[in-house]
Amino acid sequence: MKAIDANGTYKVFGKRPDKAVERLRAGATREELRKEGTTAAVIDASFEVEEGEIFVVMGLSGSGKSTLIRMVNGLWEPTAGELQVYGEDIVKMDQQQLRRTRREKVSMVFQHFALLPHRTVGENAAYGLQIQGIGKDEQQKRAKEALRLVGLKGWEDSLPGQLSGGMRQRVGLARALAAGTNIMLMDEAFSALDPLIKREMQDQLVDLQSKLGKTILFITHDLNEAMRLGDRIAMMRDGRIVQIGTSEDILNNPANDFVAQFVQDVDRSRVLTASSVMAPPVALVGAEQGPLAVHKLMRENQTSRLFVVNRDRTLAGAVDEERVVAAAKEGAKTLEGILDTTVVSVPANARLSDLLWLSANSPKALAVVDDDNTVVGVIARVTLLQALAQVRAEHASALEEVVSA
Ligand SMILES: Nc1ncnc2c1ncn2[C@@H]1O[C@H](COP(=O)(O)OP(=O)(O)O)[C@@H](O)[C@H]1O
Ligand SMILES: [Mg+2]
Repeated sequence: MKAIDANGTYKVFGKRPDKAVERLRAGATREELRKEGTTAAVIDASFEVEEGEIFVVMGLSGSGKSTLIRMVNGLWEPTAGELQVYGEDIVKMDQQQLRRTRREKVSMVFQHFALLPHRTVGENAAYGLQIQGIGKDEQQKRAKEALRLVGLKGWEDSLPGQLSGGMRQRVGLARALAAGTNIMLMDEAFSALDPLIKREMQDQLVDLQSKLGKTILFITHDLNEAMRLGDRIAMMRDGRIVQIGTSEDILNNPANDFVAQFVQDVDRSRVLTASSVMAPPVALVGAEQGPLAVHKLMRENQTSRLFVVNRDRTLAGAVDEERVVAAAKEGAKTLEGILDTTVVSVPANARLSDLLWLSANSPKALAVVDDDNTVVGVIARVTLLQALAQVRAEHASALEEVVSA
């Protein structure tokens, strides 16, 4: 079952929303409706969020992100379409069912959430539980644990005024964690923070997510934040979701010029991973093979260097043609003595930014290895540089138009 499942969901504000949906389905534009005083905030949104996933909704201000998340939370009722949370249709719920869903399944962290200045940090973290009428002891226990998780252990009895901005934002996070729901909705939760604190909170969120396995629907207008956090990202424009994919999908195959223009300024080195730029090794040499066979393999593949792997495909090293030929002339039967064991190997999920200095120090190609240390690819230095410099030519002209407009 999906944690969240939206299917053709609409939200229209203003006059005769049902009629507006009909017209949108028939091809009317958001602009046409706007002229008549109707706002199509979310148009035909379909997406699924897997349990335990960080799903980011990314778009400029006014693109419909908050409206979308508020529908998931049951604060707005969709004008049309389906919206399920753990298989239960939000659209059909009455007020009581909605309250139960919010209590048990979905909690929300806002950008400007209000800490109560005269209540302690502990009481603030427990605030949602208090509203739900949960007993005092249980409140305290859960708030304390949530504060510990966000690194605020020992601050329970302080007042919000004694905390820094970043710490206060953590209390907001703790409040949502204390609720104990599987799904956490975060609407621009870090947008108001200083860059350094923001970065810290992002790391903490990823850390918490991997520890607790929460499902997180995270909204942001900051693409770098989206790429840093999101297992997958939905790109929104003018009420519509225009692309859903991993950061790498979106960087490498933007669905249209709008997305391409957006991802232009992204620091590719921090998003792309080794696996997305590596080439498959042309051939792998078994450590037990002899120089003659290896030389044949090199000629067949027109290469002067090959990786050597053990029986379990883990990396043993590499061999160069010159030395292979010399060994063959001397009648050597094995690769012993000519194996270059200084090959640098990198994990498939390593970010390119982490490979740069390795590559700078090692002129030879890097070996890419999987979780179980088996060789899955190769990255030549030139490949790395190309990947970082890549600007898709087909989008270049569109970009110029945008820039000169
Ligand atoms: N309660 C409302 N009544 C009328 N229009 C609204 C309401 N809430 C949002 N809108 C409009 O819907 C559009 C999307 O807004 P919103 O979802 O807040 O976008 P975002 O969060 O991406 O900035 C905007 O044009 C906004 O003015
Ligand atoms: Mg918003």
